[in-house]
Amino acid sequence: MSAQRVCVADFEEEAKKVLPKAVYDYYRSGADEQTTLADNVAAFNRWRLVPRVLRDVSTVDLSVSVLGHKLSMPVCVAATAMQRMAHPEGETATARGEDAAQAVIYGVDGILVSNHGARQLDGVPATLDVLEEVVQAVQGRCDVYMDGGVRRGTDVLKALALGAKAVFIGRPVLWGLACQGEQGVTEILELLKEELRLAMALSGCRSVSEVSRSLVRRADFTSRM
Ligand SMILES: Cc1cc2nc3c(=O)[nH]c(=O)nc-3n(C[C@H](O)[C@H](O)[C@H](O)COP(=O)(O)O)c2cc1C
Repeated sequence: MSAQRVCVADFEEEAKKVLPKAVYDYYRSGADEQTTLADNVAAFNRWRLVPRVLRDVSTVDLSVSVLGHKLSMPVCVAATAMQRMAHPEGETATARGEDAAQAVIYGVDGILVSNHGARQLDGVPATLDVLEEVVQAVQGRCDVYMDGGVRRGTDVLKALALGAKAVFIGRPVLWGLACQGEQGVTEILELLKEELRLAMALSGCRSVSEVSRSLVRRADFTSRM
């Protein structure tokens, strides 16, 4: 991994430098006042992790089974248009990246809680804020996934704790593609994987099945304790 790029924000910063301004703005932006765009990211800060201790986390298994496919981690690549504006190999490079992290899903038989990366209707809730409601309504009848604003391993962990089977990432993949094509996409996926592994270990979770609702609390609730 590049010494300069240690988090998703670093990829975005570099992508901003290498992309034509119009392309960067097309990828980055959201609808209207971009209220939901900002809120998708901000929502993750409204939840706090409540780690468990005294557990042997010397090995942490990030794998999940999604629609019969075993994925190496609960992070998948969202559909984003116009990827050749980021890199000449566009979607092809992303697909090869996806391969590196075994993040390909063939056909979905579940619900993806998404507001299209806040690019459609501004003013709708952040996806993280409605995730639990959807999970409760579904009552285990199908898997629920989410996307929007996932930028860190701890974001993935919070979404899993609120009931997502896996998350999808949109813009981070575009930043990786812009920085270094296929290699950049692989780096983004590996970065999130390592961040998630660390977050799970520090939270006392040895596998994704051990990530439970009790791992998160609303920040406003925590501040009253
Ligand atoms: C540049 C761009 C193009 C997108 N194009 C599509 C699309 O063609 N079809 C679609 O269903 N979603 C599209 N999306 C939404 C993504 O699938 C996904 O929901 C969103 O990017 C997730 O939010 P995030 O970018 O904060 O990770 C697009 C998103 C971006 C940023």
